[in-house]
Amino acid sequence: MTILTEQPVTRDFGPRELRSALGHYATGVTVITACTPSGQRIGVTANSFTSVSLEPPLVSWCPAKRAPSLPDLKQATHFAVNVLASGQHHLSQQFATPAPDKFAGVPIIDGICGVPLIEGALARFECRTVRWVDAGDHLICIGEVERFDTAHGDPLVFHAGSYHVAARHPEF
Ligand SMILES: Cc1cc2nc3c(=O)[nH]c(=O)nc-3n(C[C@H](O)[C@H](O)[C@H](O)COP(=O)(O)O)c2cc1C
Repeated sequence: MTILTEQPVTRDFGPRELRSALGHYATGVTVITACTPSGQRIGVTANSFTSVSLEPPLVSWCPAKRAPSLPDLKQATHFAVNVLASGQHHLSQQFATPAPDKFAGVPIIDGICGVPLIEGALARFECRTVRWVDAGDHLICIGEVERFDTAHGDPLVFHAGSYHVAARHPEF
């Protein structure tokens, strides 16, 4: 399935303005990890992670079509969503920066199909890839959750291009 705009539309904004406006929506930060059939580990920082469905248990995230890791990600049968804790901002930077070994110094254990799971993450969702949807300059990757675990702690928050720590609202 391809999602596209049918009508030509005149807009008074460009991608940079849109990106800046979208940044007003605060998100958590995840590292999507996977493993190719030849055993190569993949890790990409992503804040496009979304819960989609409880029955069946589905989640999604959106890789950019130009991401160098995309061909490897598309080969992987499974991926994991590692939800970063507030103290793991360095991992967000590490997995958002191309490098020969993005996993250097990162404590991991092997999950389903050898997918690396990041130690200290607040939650880890191990998923089987069930669908890729074409969507503009990104793809939507939908996964069925096969296993998950959670830990206590504060989440890393991304808002307006910066990292934040979530504080409980004083009135609720
Ligand atoms: C906070 C944050 C969130 C990001 N979210 C996404 C995302 O949802 N999708 C995406 O394709 N790239 C996202 N990126 C950018 C990728 O992490 C970055 O382009 C990375 O280099 C891609 O990995 P690769 O070079 O191994 O392909 C994000 C970066 C940061 C810092």
